[in-house]
Amino acid sequence: MKVKGLWIGCLCLITACSTPDKGLDVNKELDYCNTQVHRTLEELQNRPSLTAEASGNSQVREQAIDYSMMPRCIMDSLKTWECRKASKDEWCSGFWPGILWYDYEYTHDNTIKKQAGYFTASLKFLSKIPAYDHDLGFLIFCSYGNGYRLTHNPEYKKVILDTADSLATLFRPRVGTILSWPRNIKMFGGYNTIMDNMINLEMLFWAARNGGNPYLFDIAVSHADKTMKHQFRPDYTSYHVAVYDTLTGKFIKGVTHQGYSDSSMWARGQAWAIYGYTMVYRETKDPKYLDFVQKVADIYLKRLPADYIPYWDFDAPDIPKAPRDASAACIVASALVELSTYIAGSKGEKYKQAAIKMLTSLSSDKYQCGKSKPAFLLHSTGHWPNKSEVNASIIYADYYYIEALIRLKRLEKN
Ligand code: GLY
Repeated sequence: MKVKGLWIGCLCLITACSTPDKGLDVNKELDYCNTQVHRTLEELQNRPSLTAEASGNSQVREQAIDYSMMPRCIMDSLKTWECRKASKDEWCSGFWPGILWYDYEYTHDNTIKKQAGYFTASLKFLSKIPAYDHDLGFLIFCSYGNGYRLTHNPEYKKVILDTADSLATLFRPRVGTILSWPRNIKMFGGYNTIMDNMINLEMLFWAARNGGNPYLFDIAVSHADKTMKHQFRPDYTSYHVAVYDTLTGKFIKGVTHQGYSDSSMWARGQAWAIYGYTMVYRETKDPKYLDFVQKVADIYLKRLPADYIPYWDFDAPDIPKAPRDASAACIVASALVELSTYIAGSKGEKYKQAAIKMLTSLSSDKYQCGKSKPAFLLHSTGHWPNKSEVNASIIYADYYYIEALIRLKRLEKN
């Protein structure tokens, strides 16, 4: 009995170590993404115009793409994208242009590059208006940031630098963080900083290194430090929102907005934290962030279900029936591919294998849309407490999925 148990144990170990590498063909999955990108472009090209819809005449179709309308989500029961107009309060508008830039990076297809440029240009206005909230980084760095990385277009650089200055206006030295949602001070009973805001620090770091105000670096570091101090519990799970006293800057409480409860681990919040602190380590090379992010990642990995795709909240009461959040898995996979490059030996390898396992699951029939719809992935959860975008295809899942695949491809090439 003992021998049999040992044998099965060894077999599981061998399988666990070797399956992911065999199971994931990165080029195949990037080809799949490219196919879906073309399907989406075709759908956008052939969308009935609003007037046609309003008039009930489905024969009247606009042949030109409206580049200000960005794919956002496809609900589980639907087959075509819900698009939203790029605007200061539509936080997801940068992901579709970012996907196009990644697809161009993989395919070198100039028609995709052209489309990426057109959609990206629709967001330029954000660099010229006062900051509405912290999402400027998602909006501009996923679009213009990737565009600049691949083209070195000086106009793109100016848009990023101007937007970084604009984002910095939300920083309050008294608190030491960026005010994430100025519109929600009353709702939370104080100044608020949300975990998602960590991602937007990347644009500040980049700007400080690329001709922008060096103070942007200090803002980003201050924000990361304050968030590290107040927005994590002793077990390294995170609060979605930290509430601070508007006048004194003192931390009041940690609460949730999109998670199950104030004391639960909201999957995407933890994912933003893993991604965010990996990036902060890259930008600062301060080992305290590398040490910290491993703890934040380890608790996430420890509590994952067998297929490595989290339920939308790790403490959702109806697990295993609770909806999954594929978007969190994509964000973490991308972060762990990067994190694995900063850590030598078996720990680094553990993160790489975990990322591969996530991407292998995401690339299975269970999670890919395949022919059923033009998005890459199914089963993300946007805002469960609001009952919006639950078990849906969501554009940011696709963005971090293609990013993770490209990062892994780069890693395996080097
Ligand atoms: N940044 C909002 C979200 O993660 O849903």
